[in-house]
Amino acid sequence: MRSRSVLSAGQFSKEQLEKLLETSARIEAHLQNHRQLPLLEEYVLATLFFEPSTRTRLSFESAMHRLAGRIISTVGVQFSSLAKGESLYDTLKMIEAYADICAIRHPVEGASAIAARNISIPVINAGDGAGEHPTQALLDLYTIRKHHSLAEKPVTVAFVGDIRYGRTIHSLLQMLANFPVEMIFISPVEIGLPDKYRDFLKNKKIKIVETEDIAALREAQVAYVTRIQEERFPDPREFEKFKDSYIIDREMVGKCRPDLIVMHPLPRLSEISLDVDDLPNAVYFEQAENGLYTRMSLLLDLLDVPFVG
Ligand code: CP
Repeated sequence: MRSRSVLSAGQFSKEQLEKLLETSARIEAHLQNHRQLPLLEEYVLATLFFEPSTRTRLSFESAMHRLAGRIISTVGVQFSSLAKGESLYDTLKMIEAYADICAIRHPVEGASAIAARNISIPVINAGDGAGEHPTQALLDLYTIRKHHSLAEKPVTVAFVGDIRYGRTIHSLLQMLANFPVEMIFISPVEIGLPDKYRDFLKNKKIKIVETEDIAALREAQVAYVTRIQEERFPDPREFEKFKDSYIIDREMVGKCRPDLIVMHPLPRLSEISLDVDDLPNAVYFEQAENGLYTRMSLLLDLLDVPFVG
């Protein structure tokens, strides 16, 4: 790695996470009274999104705007010269010349790591296939910490849905492993926890439960619900089999702990009913908003620009 890049949630120490979250909180407080925090006037962020995105790309771009930086962007292979046959390597060499930092979303697992090995500016993995989505995990962690202290008593986090292909889950479980937590994985067996993450959690001595039974949600303080990742299934019939495996509705939330927070990285399909949205437990829109503060914090950190004040 030739510069500081963010490729995996597992690369962060607890101290680094605490620092990023603390800066995020100060940025959030600052933005209550100001429209900008102009610390990156001299910098350019490139956003390269070769898979669909709403939140990640727009919150990175909004973060850069709020920091008074500049943005260059390419969205979709069809709108870059990749469509004319240019290699990703050549595209990246251009980005290195035009920008100071870049965020990349790509359908191939490990694509960001390959980019980071080939260019000298920091690369942020904004989602690589079914691999990871570390900046989503950062905003998820920030959201959980706002509602549950993650200090001494273990917080029980239930992951619901597509645990096999859900990259946000792969990243969040690694960050959470730095804190006192217990985890419940609720999914059909076929799309359950990949072995490498089960081994990782075992090594970290995190207590986990794996089940297909949604009733396990009653023990949880955090329900992290994900959609079944249609685009990752080699056989579309498999997706059809799992697509409505779990639907969290108001009645179900009513049977859970009162301090349960319901999270979702979004976009959602049918897995959380609209009747959950106005419950105090529902924090998924707040969660998406937190992406702004945490990504501002991360950009400052990667560009070595302190926020003093
Ligand atoms: N959570 C998330 O990655 O959303 P987008 O796909 O809209 O960026």
